[in-house]
Amino acid sequence: MTTEPDLSSTAAKLRHQLTAQLAADGRLRSPAWRAAVETVPRHEFVLCFYRETDDPGLTTWTPVTADLVGVEEWLRQAYADDTLITQFDGQEIDWTDPKPIRGAHPTSSSTLPTLVVHMLEELRLHDGMTVMEIGTGTGYSAALMCHRLGPDRVTSIETDPDVAARARDALNRCGYAPRLVVGDGLVGHPEGAHYDRTIATCGVRHIPHTWVQQTRPGGLILATLRGWMRSLGLVRLTVDREGRAEGRFIDGDPSFMIARQQDAPKSLGMIPAPDDGASRSTPYGPDMLTAAGSGFVAQLAMPSARFFSMPADDGTPCTYVLDGRNESFAVLTPKSDDEWNVRQGGPAALWDLLENALHTWRAAGSPKPTEFGVTVAAESQWVWLGTPDGPSWRLPTPAQSTDGSA
Ligand SMILES: C[S@@+](CC[C@H](N)C(=O)[O-])C[C@H]1O[C@@H](n2cnc3c(N)ncnc32)[C@H](O)[C@@H]1O
Repeated sequence: MTTEPDLSSTAAKLRHQLTAQLAADGRLRSPAWRAAVETVPRHEFVLCFYRETDDPGLTTWTPVTADLVGVEEWLRQAYADDTLITQFDGQEIDWTDPKPIRGAHPTSSSTLPTLVVHMLEELRLHDGMTVMEIGTGTGYSAALMCHRLGPDRVTSIETDPDVAARARDALNRCGYAPRLVVGDGLVGHPEGAHYDRTIATCGVRHIPHTWVQQTRPGGLILATLRGWMRSLGLVRLTVDREGRAEGRFIDGDPSFMIARQQDAPKSLGMIPAPDDGASRSTPYGPDMLTAAGSGFVAQLAMPSARFFSMPADDGTPCTYVLDGRNESFAVLTPKSDDEWNVRQGGPAALWDLLENALHTWRAAGSPKPTEFGVTVAAESQWVWLGTPDGPSWRLPTPAQSTDGSA
């Protein structure tokens, strides 16, 4: 049996190992963050969680608690460099009798420690600064910031009341009392403004302008932009005096769960009938949607699209790209080894938008996402290539059209 002192010393040893590993990987660089990771007991924030297993087929998650796997194994997993899932489909888990879960959609977690420290380092915090975090989750990253800055300088917002309550308990157990807000982090928390830094640990389709308004001029916003097809990546924006924010994508490709209020509608939209739309040939096949560089470009070009593959009645493989907001579609079928047929319809010619964006990207030498940047203004926001006046693609803010062109 593991006694209390054993638990604390085992946890401290595992924490030390995790800290050393994150430092050796080059993610944990500054002494202040190193001290925070060495000190904050992650296990207090993940008393019960699910961990992905390697089974083939549909993703399966297995429950982990000290009772289920033993204290030492629970601690080992709590201090592994892994994402630990704490909620699925917005529903609380019955921890009196937890079962393995398959085919569900994670909605809250303790983020991968590598990514947590990468973001905190990239946030460029200094003593005396204030920070607003969107997505409290388990409260672990908020606790690290409390250790670094002092709890009275940390505001953290969580949209899910049950998740927020658990985070509050864990933070209290560790002696931290930051300002915790239950609500939609997309509107921020004006009562605490202006913040020196704003950080989001859920993904967003566009940067809420409220974050720009609530971050002081010269302050930074760090967030993951993502679409309904994939993540675009981490951006760090500097706020200016005119109420705009601008900056580049930085290294790291987190695939954060999307802000709940921006999640894709359940329905994909109308599936086009076999004779709908106009057909032509294209050299670009469906792999353009999934390959690393072109997938990023596809997400920019078709910000509200989603896709799936399904054979037609005669067995022909078909990939459907659908924009449910305006009923635009592109259906791809193979024609020869290096040619495809695309059938398009609706107000936005989706495959034309993708091809134009791919031509621009390839003409520039197929640059990495870090060659792209973002400008956020009150009325619109866009991703640009190279410089702010370079080729650009609009992000889907509520006031924008959704055809992807700037
Ligand atoms: C990846 S988890 C956060 C991880 C957390 N920072 C930690 O260290 O445990 C993302 C969280 O964002 C929350 N979330 C989603 N949409 C939100 C919103 N609009 N405002 C605030 N929180 C939101 C989710 O409920 C979830 O708990």
